[in-house]
Amino acid sequence: MIAIRSVGIVGTGSFVPPSILTNIDIEKMVDTSNQWIIERTGICERRISSPETTASDLGVPASLAALQSAGINPEEIDLIIVATSTPDMTFPSTACFIQNKIGASRAACFDISAACTGFSYALETGRQFIATSTYKTALIVGTEVMSRVLDWTDRNTCVLFGDGAGAAVLQPVADNYGILSTSLGADGRLASMLDLPAGGCIRMSGREVFKVAVNTMIEAVEKVLNNAGISQEAVSLLIPHQANIRIIEAMGKRLNIPSERIFVNLQKYGNVSAGSTIIALDEAVRQGRVADGDIVVIVAFGGGLTWGATVIRWGGVLISEK
Ligand code: UT7
Repeated sequence: MIAIRSVGIVGTGSFVPPSILTNIDIEKMVDTSNQWIIERTGICERRISSPETTASDLGVPASLAALQSAGINPEEIDLIIVATSTPDMTFPSTACFIQNKIGASRAACFDISAACTGFSYALETGRQFIATSTYKTALIVGTEVMSRVLDWTDRNTCVLFGDGAGAAVLQPVADNYGILSTSLGADGRLASMLDLPAGGCIRMSGREVFKVAVNTMIEAVEKVLNNAGISQEAVSLLIPHQANIRIIEAMGKRLNIPSERIFVNLQKYGNVSAGSTIIALDEAVRQGRVADGDIVVIVAFGGGLTWGATVIRWGGVLISEK
């Protein structure tokens, strides 16, 4: 029988391009208003890459920051998984480009497609490789150049998204620490509610997606907490997908988790799809909002439709693993 090891996030990093596009800027592009965007979404501004920037370009500084915070070298990475809907190319994978750019010469590489839930899917996939001792160190990256796949004449979608990347280093951690439970789900019958045709732009039935998002994310959080035997009151920090403040508030209310224990940064970045939750987690860590022993819950939702939740007991880093 294979011994299953506890696996945790031992380092995080993120990077967003410097160029800011405000709601006021977008008012000049489509028939919208700063007030509508803030009231209906909570978003004030988003980051936009230069035309030549790729998903791997954004993923590299995020990955290097994650490696630095974990205190490991690129050569120690066994596996790179990149979650993205905006890959540099159809192939090679964006993971291969990041591998080359950071010098992670030993790593196996592949990409995962699960839209905005991509980081959750990639995190669980990486966990399984380490839990079974196939690998010791995995780099999980969520990176997006959403600006490249938006119809900048469609006010229903172009106000919502932004560019950026986040990364996490996974390693074995002490027993009862790290990822305690994960729940992933999908409903392909609802694929047409939110899609990105090859070579095209994002299309979304916002109102319908909103309802499914709230319900499935709540169910996913309840499921992982239940599986891990952890109460909602014990959640130190909820890191939800950063799509819409009204979705996050509805979740918090139904889950009975007060806003002080929910991390929100969508006002600065909009929806960064697969980059969303890992950028938020990295910011939370760097702001000192996550301490050893804390219960952190990540929950995401996106095209597919897909959803996923993960409950983590933070910390438990093994010195001998470094
Ligand atoms: O990350 C993947 C998951 N995605 C999501 O979770 C997104 C989920 N959906 C949402 O966040 C919201 O549904 C939106 C922000 C997309 C839209 O908000 P809403 O409150 O559901 O608005 P709505 O689609 O019901 O539209 C209300 C009105 C419509 O006008 P009428 O038909 O009432 O005259 C829209 O045409 O708002 C109009 N509208 C806008 N007005 C100004 C839609 N977009 C805009 C806009 N500016 N940008």
